[in-house]
Amino acid sequence: HNIVVLISGNGSNLQAIIDSCTNGIIKNSRIAAVISNKADAYGLQRAQLANIEAVSIAATNYANRQDYDQVLIEKIDAYQPDVIVLAGFMRILSADFVNHYQGRMLNIHPSLLPKYTGLNTHQRAIDAGDTEHGTSVHFVTEELDGGPVILQAKVPIFTTDSVDDVIERVQRQEHNIYPLVIQWLLTQRLSMQNGYAVLDGNQL
Ligand code: GRF
Repeated sequence: HNIVVLISGNGSNLQAIIDSCTNGIIKNSRIAAVISNKADAYGLQRAQLANIEAVSIAATNYANRQDYDQVLIEKIDAYQPDVIVLAGFMRILSADFVNHYQGRMLNIHPSLLPKYTGLNTHQRAIDAGDTEHGTSVHFVTEELDGGPVILQAKVPIFTTDSVDDVIERVQRQEHNIYPLVIQWLLTQRLSMQNGYAVLDGNQL
């Protein structure tokens, strides 16, 4: 199977996926390309180190979202991906883009969805006095951070935590759960049906 990963930054989740393709948590699959909208994303270096094609497409060269997303579709589809993985890709995607990959595109969002869609989720959880926080893997639909949730991991928030402590604790869990979900989707144990995530025949 072919996986295409979209990133904008550090790429620690990308690294977890690269490692999972090597250690067999993700089976019979390769990352065909890593595409970033930021030329300086560290994740592009991670890709190169792993001999994976690393592509950067800056949005500044395009007049509008529609044009950019169209180019992105063409680039992605050239790799004939079975699954498209958003891993810290910090751009809003157009409806056309999202619909093109309906049921084949995953995102990981650092909150216990439906809580805290959008940005600064860790700080918002701390500010709200939450004692737990976490991360969610979900199918991407037109609704931002609103597609059906597939798997979540919870972590505690301690009163002594800095925001960096919480981010690190959440990310450790992200690196565990994202590869699992990718493997489920690649092997068709997982699908999206009528707007719901279905795993092994059970609606989640
Ligand atoms: C992750 O925490 C993910 O939940 C969010 O962006 C972050 C990306 O981190 N969508 P990295 O680039 O994978 O290290």
